[in-house]
Amino acid sequence: MRFGAEILKQADVLATFTEDAPRLTRTYLSKQHKQAGVYLIGLMRDAGMTADFDPLGNIVGRYEAGVPFAPVVMTGSHQDSVRNAGKYDGLFGILSPIACVKELNRQGRRLPYTLEIVGFGDEEGVRFPATLIGSKAMAGLFDPAWLDKTDADGITMRQAINDFGGDANKWRVLDRRSGAPDGEHGDVVAFVESHIEQGPVLLNEGLAVGIVTAIAGATRLRISITGLAGHAGTVPMGARQDALTAAAEMILFVESYCTNHAGLVGTVGIMSLKPGAVNVIPQDVEFTIDVRSSDDGSRVNAVNAFNETFAVIAKRRNVAFTSNVFFSSDAAPCDAGLQRQFEAAVVAHGIAPRYLPSGAGHDAMVFPAVAPTAMLFVRCGNNGISHHPAETMTAEDAEIATSVLLHFFEHYQPPQFSASSAQRVDRHI
Ligand code: GLV
Ligand code: MN
Ligand code: MN
Repeated sequence: MRFGAEILKQADVLATFTEDAPRLTRTYLSKQHKQAGVYLIGLMRDAGMTADFDPLGNIVGRYEAGVPFAPVVMTGSHQDSVRNAGKYDGLFGILSPIACVKELNRQGRRLPYTLEIVGFGDEEGVRFPATLIGSKAMAGLFDPAWLDKTDADGITMRQAINDFGGDANKWRVLDRRSGAPDGEHGDVVAFVESHIEQGPVLLNEGLAVGIVTAIAGATRLRISITGLAGHAGTVPMGARQDALTAAAEMILFVESYCTNHAGLVGTVGIMSLKPGAVNVIPQDVEFTIDVRSSDDGSRVNAVNAFNETFAVIAKRRNVAFTSNVFFSSDAAPCDAGLQRQFEAAVVAHGIAPRYLPSGAGHDAMVFPAVAPTAMLFVRCGNNGISHHPAETMTAEDAEIATSVLLHFFEHYQPPQFSASSAQRVDRHI
């Protein structure tokens, strides 16, 4: 086996860089992010790449083209995790292309483009109220207001970036879009990401890999409800302004709406209440909603329906509520030409091509703003569970997926690229 067993071993090592062992949690700009980055940079350099952190803490490796003035094909995924995560979400998409470069380098082979592998600092949005921070910076979608957002300990993102050893003021230079005003830009001709499926489709159909057609769009909202605290023993049931029961009714509405509208999924993943005492009626409740669909219209309709129904519930229960969108991303179709090139690589491995959409979000979803984008999915075991420690994949599947990815890299022909665009590039690693 050329790749699979080693990739799984590397994922085991990365799982030791965790904030709450024995669980795996690694958030953006944490000490463990630094440790994982140093480890990945070591792997990249051993594989024959130049590699370092960029100013926002992304881990960037380059395997230079065999020809001058060559464009860049970018690949990669995220180094961060959810709380109590599995070992492969994100990491596979960094480790798998590193294994490809190691093999190319062993053969002394260069490509007609520079291959850039990125371990994005943040994709999951666990630490700060922002998501896809690294990839959005590269896609020109970084919001500088994020720098003043704080984590649960009151540390601003700006402070955390600078403490990490980065430079928060340099977020603009990461923008890789053609025509971007500053920094490196215009040289990326494709973005591809390999990732575990995080669902059971490939497992149920006995397929090691699949080709992604589109990534579902998502909206995330924070709902705040204000009622009135009172004595649990004295306030009559009909006279209460209970923020928690109002929230309960709203959450059940989210569930029933998404159940009754095909293609929608809705999740309430965070909730808090105050004052939080056994004998006090809850006064302040906050919860988040994550709603997704590959149809942007039905997602927008869902958000409108939530807000309208929440207003009715709040009025009837005599509580106030606010609803704020803190993340929104439209569905991202994958490039048809790159999908066909992945199909050729899959077929060359004797596997029936299976096209499937992604319900999960990925770094790839923001890259259509930069270049044609595509994704390769790899089967996961345990009924496809992910965002859970039982997430798993086999060394055999890691082997096949990496071999398919390598085939894709070996056969990809970049479009014509002018020397003048390449000369504009001002490297920072
Ligand atoms: C990332 O894993 C997401 O889909 O939220
Ligand atoms: Mn994830
Ligand atoms: Mn992921």
